[in-house]
Amino acid sequence: MTYVVTENCIACKYTDCVEVCPVDCFYEGENMLVIHPDECIDCGVCEPECPADAIRPDTEPDMDRWVDFNRKYSLKWPVIITKKDPLPEAEDRDGEDGKMDKYFSEAPGEGG
Ligand code: SF4
Ligand code: F3S
Repeated sequence: MTYVVTENCIACKYTDCVEVCPVDCFYEGENMLVIHPDECIDCGVCEPECPADAIRPDTEPDMDRWVDFNRKYSLKWPVIITKKDPLPEAEDRDGEDGKMDKYFSEAPGEGG
């Protein structure tokens, strides 16, 4: 089992999650984070920390594609262990439909 970051992180990227992860398994894209599914130890402490409710356990329905997505980008993006300011549009974008199609960027973030 693992936890994964899902669509509502896109264009928000609050980063509260990275501060509590005991194994530093969050990776940063330009406008969202992902979790490395093989590094996550399933402790669950990050899930309630996300203001956007974007972190889900893979035991919920239809999570397979998010596990694949998180694995794919965790291998491409830099690790992030330090909380940063949310993206400027975070409050406006929180909960918006269709964020993947509208805003997702494959570009890496800065990490750190
Ligand atoms: Fe890190 Fe635990 Fe969240 Fe997995 S469930 S990403 S180990 S804080
Ligand atoms: Fe994203 Fe939530 Fe972390 S919005 S950066 S998963 S705190």
